[in-house]
Amino acid sequence: MMKSDSSMDKNSPIDRVIEWIEYRLPIFSFLKHFSEYRTPKNLNYLWNLGSIAGIILIIQILTGLFLAMQ
Ligand code: HEM
Repeated sequence: MMKSDSSMDKNSPIDRVIEWIEYRLPIFSFLKHFSEYRTPKNLNYLWNLGSIAGIILIIQILTGLFLAMQ
């Protein structure tokens, strides 16, 4: 991943583009937080279902409101 300090030994064109972006918008070091975030061992993609249920609930409420308006 991207190192934000000046001790970067890589200097290929793509690394310099990444460095250019990182300097102005530290998006790569920000995304690194997610890969380093510690979670329980048993977490898997099934835990997304709770958030998906929440999104579906919001959609139900919003579309229900619009249907009630006509
Ligand atoms: C529209 C209905 C529901 C919504 C929006 C919802 C939402 C969520 C969310 C966002 C989480 C945390 C993330 C995850 O584990 O997926 C969660 C966890 C959980 N939910 Fe729900 N949920 C709903 C219904 C239910 C029902 C019906 C049950 C049980 C009968 C249930 C039991 C649980 C349990 C046990 C957890 C903890 C999972 C774990 O971390 O081990 N939920 N829920």
